[in-house]
Amino acid sequence: MAILVTGGAGFIGCNFVIDWLECIGEPVINLDKLTYAGNLQSLSALNSDNRHLFVNGDIGDSALLKLLLSKYSPRAVINFAAESHVDRSIHAPSEFIQTNVLGTFTLLEAIRGYWSELPEDERRLFRFLHVSTDEVYGSLLPGDPPFTETNAYEPNSPYSASKAASDHLVRAWHHTYGLPVLTTNCSNNYGPYHFPEKLIPLVILNALAGKPLPIYGDGQQVRDWLYVKDHCSAIRRVLEAGALGETYNVGGWNEKTNLEVVHTICAILDELQPRTDGESYAGQITFVQDRPGHDRRYAIDARKLERELGWKPAETFETGIRKTVQWYLDNQGWVHNVSSGNYREWVNQQYGI
Ligand code: NAD
Ligand code: TYD
Repeated sequence: MAILVTGGAGFIGCNFVIDWLECIGEPVINLDKLTYAGNLQSLSALNSDNRHLFVNGDIGDSALLKLLLSKYSPRAVINFAAESHVDRSIHAPSEFIQTNVLGTFTLLEAIRGYWSELPEDERRLFRFLHVSTDEVYGSLLPGDPPFTETNAYEPNSPYSASKAASDHLVRAWHHTYGLPVLTTNCSNNYGPYHFPEKLIPLVILNALAGKPLPIYGDGQQVRDWLYVKDHCSAIRRVLEAGALGETYNVGGWNEKTNLEVVHTICAILDELQPRTDGESYAGQITFVQDRPGHDRRYAIDARKLERELGWKPAETFETGIRKTVQWYLDNQGWVHNVSSGNYREWVNQQYGI
């Protein structure tokens, strides 16, 4: 038996592959296009592990998908592959439509062909799990209750619109063709191997490099943060016991303003690696121009997943963020390698630094 993971060289995907091999041990075929966000170094601990097979390719490549599915006969496919950065989607939305919408469509069609030909007992057990985001629900006002699975889809950015479209395709492939699908909609993740274009790793690395810590607008936007390993355990649980065709919201009950997050990181760094001048890293906080159409607040109600499948996050924000800051301090080699080439160009274009 094996599973096929797409996008397993990205932030959440690589954590999932590592976690899966530790916890379940079943072989993983890892299909990833290695865009700027894909990084094989994040999987270097698995270099001599023959349970991990990496394939460099695109979820939009129908012939490759057919080949992999027929060759390895996975019992499940977990789809992480996506363009995932809101700011990039504002500058250049085309890749988001290509991978998140058309790529998911191509993947669904290849899987449908494979699944429909499986022997009855394998067809019954097969699962396609689509990893999605809370951003499909749009933005909350301060007093609104957190998003539940029945909230209307109201995506606001090219990224969230492309993910919403992919969720709709997955839903339709279940209702129309009976494909055994599961969808998870998760809040903002943080933790090891997070590419430093996203808020938390960007702030840790800029702080250590003596650079400005850019806060968009007034910094009062709220995100609901989940430690990435908790997301991995939720996906494992949904794959194991989720009801077919259902969606599950995944979140950490950790609503924080961006400014709170940045101050927390600065306080941990002040303790673990104080600045040589004795000042706080918080002195590097710089307010910059807001993101166009910036969603004000996301928050997840994860009670369905707890009630029906017994899942709860293991980390609080306080424990998870401390582990994360420590991980970045301990893994300067990884940081150095991702902080080059394309990434530098992006930072230059976005922030002019
Ligand atoms: P990421 O950008 O770090 O990684 C995406 C990976 O997909 C990269 O390795 C990239 O090379 C690969 N990829 C991109 N296009 C591909 C294609 N056409 N074919 C094959 N591989 C391709 O993203 P992430 O943060 O790890 O997110 C993974 C998934 O989880 C995404 O679907 C995202 O929408 C979802 N999600 C992310 C978060 C978050 O906070 N990061 C929260 C909820 C949901
Ligand atoms: P991000 O990590 O890009 O995730 P998302 O946009 O998917 O929520 O951003 C998290 C929050 O931090 C979001 O409100 C935008 C804000 N932000 C900044 O204030 N400064 C930055 O440099 C970045 C990258 C994000």
